[in-house]
Amino acid sequence: MPEFNIAKAKERFPALKKDDQVYLDNAGGSQVLGDVIDSVAQYLSGTNVQLGASYRVGQISNQKYEDGYKAAAAYINADPSEIVLGTSTTQNFMNLASSLKFNEGDEIILSKMEHETNVKPWVYMADKLKLTVKWWYSEKPELKLTSENLKPLLSAKTKFVACTHVSNILGSIHDVKAIAKVVHDAGALFCVDGVSFAPHRQVDVKAFGVDFYAFSWYKVYGPHIAVLYASTEAQKHMKPLAHYFNPTGTLADKIGFAASNYEITQSIPIIVDYLGGSNPGPVFAAIAEHEGKLQKILLDFLTSRKDITVHGSTSSDSKERVPTISFTVEGVNSKELVEKVDKASNYGIRWGHFYSKRLCDEVLGLGPEAVCRVSMVHYNTEKEIEGLVEVLKKVLP
Ligand SMILES: Cc1ncc(COP(=O)(O)O)c(C=O)c1O
Repeated sequence: MPEFNIAKAKERFPALKKDDQVYLDNAGGSQVLGDVIDSVAQYLSGTNVQLGASYRVGQISNQKYEDGYKAAAAYINADPSEIVLGTSTTQNFMNLASSLKFNEGDEIILSKMEHETNVKPWVYMADKLKLTVKWWYSEKPELKLTSENLKPLLSAKTKFVACTHVSNILGSIHDVKAIAKVVHDAGALFCVDGVSFAPHRQVDVKAFGVDFYAFSWYKVYGPHIAVLYASTEAQKHMKPLAHYFNPTGTLADKIGFAASNYEITQSIPIIVDYLGGSNPGPVFAAIAEHEGKLQKILLDFLTSRKDITVHGSTSSDSKERVPTISFTVEGVNSKELVEKVDKASNYGIRWGHFYSKRLCDEVLGLGPEAVCRVSMVHYNTEKEIEGLVEVLKKVLP
């Protein structure tokens, strides 16, 4: 396979050629590969039939859908029977929460450093099954979940722990492998929200050693669909939600609900191929290196000013963090700052709590406008980030 060329990668995205908008809300949603867009149109115009049929076009559609599932599973190092594709990570977690079996009085540990997607489903599950919820977080300035700060919360009653791989506000990478070990030593199941990690680094659920893992392809250069992994072993803790006459062997059988979006599922092999296919290592090494340069430019500027607080790690080391960078400026309202950037430039950044409301309110202690967030991916350029720094210099007091 030829080396992954960062500069050329940009050319694969039609939106990036269209106008001069600079996309820096990628943690909200990334742009979509041109080949994916084309394949969705082709599927709909040539093979859009109900799956499961034996006639000629039906067979082609069946195969394309199956190939989508196989590619998504192989991409994260899972078996196809261990994944389900659904409308969103929120929906996939809600489905999982409806299906998991625990006993009254069991304990679950939830983190406050999360997008609400990885909280609400488990609070709902706890209410329904009469489980006790324990809260896990890490104070400022560390703001990092570790196996060490989890340990005091674990008990013989702990049956489930959930946390994010990377916070969509803080950008720091949690060591989920180390956390998985202590969760398993305690005899509990471990669920990880990989939504903010997956656009930046290789996902290998077996190497992470997790029981459940999820991310959304609309932030990984594809359209709106999400994948949830549940190991074969972990599936034993699930009650299938399928119709009584349907099979229940795979995760998709158990909580898939009438199949996933056909035209998007069949496009997944194209995204996987873009990210290196069966050999994603070199692609993600190139992405990590480039992202390290991007985040250094912004972090160097932000940390040079005494009136700016970066929430999360200020290290530009790609092993420490991904380029999702949130900050507040003393005496400046985050909303007003973003509006000034909108007026002064073509840079698309955002303000708010980004659904990580518990983190922003309770851990960071911020007001309703919360943070300004700049979220970069590999198709952003150093020139763009240098330009953003100049805009910030202009609009900041
Ligand atoms: C970290 C994180 N988790 C979960 C979600 C929700 O994903 P979805 O929209 O697929 O439900 C988001 C979306 O912004 C997110 O950033």
